[in-house]
Amino acid sequence: MKPARTLLTAFAAAAALSLAGGIALADDDAKLIKKGKKVYNKCKTCHLIDKEKSKVGPHLVGIIGRAAGVVEGFKYSDAMKNSGIVWNDEEIMAYLEKPKEYIPGNKMVFPGLKKEKDRIRVLAYIKSKMPPAE
Ligand code: HEC
Repeated sequence: MKPARTLLTAFAAAAALSLAGGIALADDDAKLIKKGKKVYNKCKTCHLIDKEKSKVGPHLVGIIGRAAGVVEGFKYSDAMKNSGIVWNDEEIMAYLEKPKEYIPGNKMVFPGLKKEKDRIRVLAYIKSKMPPAE
């Protein structure tokens, strides 16, 4: 286990991601997204990302840059509605690590993704689903 290296890799991946939004993706990003799609299997019973239709959870179409708790017709917890969050890379990474602690009282029944690399992967997948920046 080499913590310094692991951290560096994570930072490199995060940096790559912030550049990747909507622009042509490098090979490495394509791999990351493919792995992220697998991680997203854990989310998809509750969250659609291709269709503006909510299931157990609100749909995640356009989630990057979207304010928390705004999907019409979805019954959010007060905690989520009043969180004041606008979802960006950092907020999503933090929420997915420990959903219950990050927004106490929110009603997403999901223990979180313990491994940072899973969070980076799923974020890459989510970002790959966002419409290209104008
Ligand atoms: C068992 C169902 C379930 C699973 C699995 C689940 N979620 Fe959720 N999620 C919810 C619910 C319900 C909410 C709304 C929480 C609230 O209102 O307090 C939510 C909220 C969210 C939000 C905030 C949405 C908004 O409109 O503000 C994001 C982002 C999110 N989830 C991402 C994920 C990701 C990514 C995964 C997989 C790693 C995941 N969730 C797994 C049920 C789930």
